Amino acid sequence: MMGAMASSKAKIVHVCSECGTSHPKWAGRCSGCGDWNTLVEDLGDDGGAELPVSTRPGPVRIGDVGAAEGNPEATGLAELDRVLGGGIVPGSVTLLGGEPGIGKSTLLLQLLAAWTGPTLYVTAEESAHQVGRRAERLGADRRDLWLHAETSLPHVIDAIEQIRPELVVIDSIQTVHDPSIGSVPGSVAQVRGCAQRLVGEAKERGVSIVLVGHVTKEGGLAGPRVLEHVVDTVLQFEGDRHHALRLLRASKHRFGPTNELGLFEMVNEGLRAVPDPSSLFLADRRTGVPGSAVVPTMEGHRPIVVEVQALTSDGVPGVPSRRSAQGLDAGRLSMLLAVLGRRSRVPVAEQDVYASTAGGVKLSEPGLDLGVCLAVASAVRDQPLPPDLAVFGEVGLGGELRQVSHAARRLTEAHRLGFRRVIVPANSPDVDGGVDLRVVRASTLSEAIRAAGLTASTAPAGLRPTG
Ligand code: TYD
Ligand code: MG
Repeated sequence: MMGAMASSKAKIVHVCSECGTSHPKWAGRCSGCGDWNTLVEDLGDDGGAELPVSTRPGPVRIGDVGAAEGNPEATGLAELDRVLGGGIVPGSVTLLGGEPGIGKSTLLLQLLAAWTGPTLYVTAEESAHQVGRRAERLGADRRDLWLHAETSLPHVIDAIEQIRPELVVIDSIQTVHDPSIGSVPGSVAQVRGCAQRLVGEAKERGVSIVLVGHVTKEGGLAGPRVLEHVVDTVLQFEGDRHHALRLLRASKHRFGPTNELGLFEMVNEGLRAVPDPSSLFLADRRTGVPGSAVVPTMEGHRPIVVEVQALTSDGVPGVPSRRSAQGLDAGRLSMLLAVLGRRSRVPVAEQDVYASTAGGVKLSEPGLDLGVCLAVASAVRDQPLPPDLAVFGEVGLGGELRQVSHAARRLTEAHRLGFRRVIVPANSPDVDGGVDLRVVRASTLSEAIRAAGLTASTAPAGLRPTG
């Protein structure tokens, strides 16, 4: 009962609830992350729980370590498996972050329902009835799915001992607490201590654990940064609560790449995989409208065709132009606008520019550059791009077009969706013929603008970028 606490003086420190930086004295602003009013009283590091003493063997020769142990097991949810690179590795700990109401509990309940061995869902936030009602709605009434409404970590560990599940969900890590850590539930020391204990349990028993994590108002994971370091995998569940689309990405993954995107739709029966995202993203597209360009992008191994939209309007004289990017990187947009103005003489300097990806999907991929530039040029000149045209390519500071990965897969996907002309960087590798597709090669942004049929005729004469 005395445990780790008795061995040291429980020193009061002030810990930032956002980033976990500890301060010897209270201050209005955290020196770690710069946030205001985030410091809370807490017990010093010495007061926190420590990792259970490891009973693992000492050093071994690297050749003697079997690779089989770390093999992922498919979960039965294809989009989740895609993001995880095959499935869940036994004994691993995954943190799932996302805004309230985005569907974290739904996703994990579906995960446990799809699993074949014994699983345990620990609800430390909602009552067993609430979870039961959701399970009913999702058809998740498997015999081997155990539900435990509990907030005390030792009781949770007892339940793991009793049920011996293969997979455990803790919903959420912020609401479980360990009485041996002398700090209030939800505090930095509690969250860190509980996570470390659970990681210890997972490694020792070979049980896989998924922790639900709350996010801060800025969208980062709440709680100490160390939380992200102690787990094996960090997943982010995103989306617009007003739209049904949900995106799952890994920001850290010890067992595989982090560039795959999982796509779900929230429907009445829970989360449903989106097998054909391109069609979904292009569903509402109107052709013949200026300021729209279509880009076959790559998300990990999967090509996804998206629409980039731009709107420009005369800025207010004397006021810096507005630049707004939604679903796109704002810094990248600024750079592309500068290139458009300086290298291709598209008069954007005094224009307010709004650019977005249709469907609210967040993308950052160099292949989008050309689409963003052509959407803006099309908006400025008030001329639509041809309806059967798709484009991709990275734009360099010199106005040159650079090749991007997986040209062939992008072209095939564009063709599948009915596009017949594609502007690509001149150096793109040759693609197999056979498909009815006109590939137009351009070595500069200006060439691409001309190839897309945009002319300078409607641009007001004498309006030149000032830069
Ligand atoms: P939830 O999984 O509770 O979100 P989180 O755990 O991230 O807070 O899901 C919240 C929303 O999802 C809720 O507003 C209702 C909606 N929902 C559906 O549309 N269909 C469903 O089948 C379920 C279970 C939830
Ligand atoms: Mg929830």
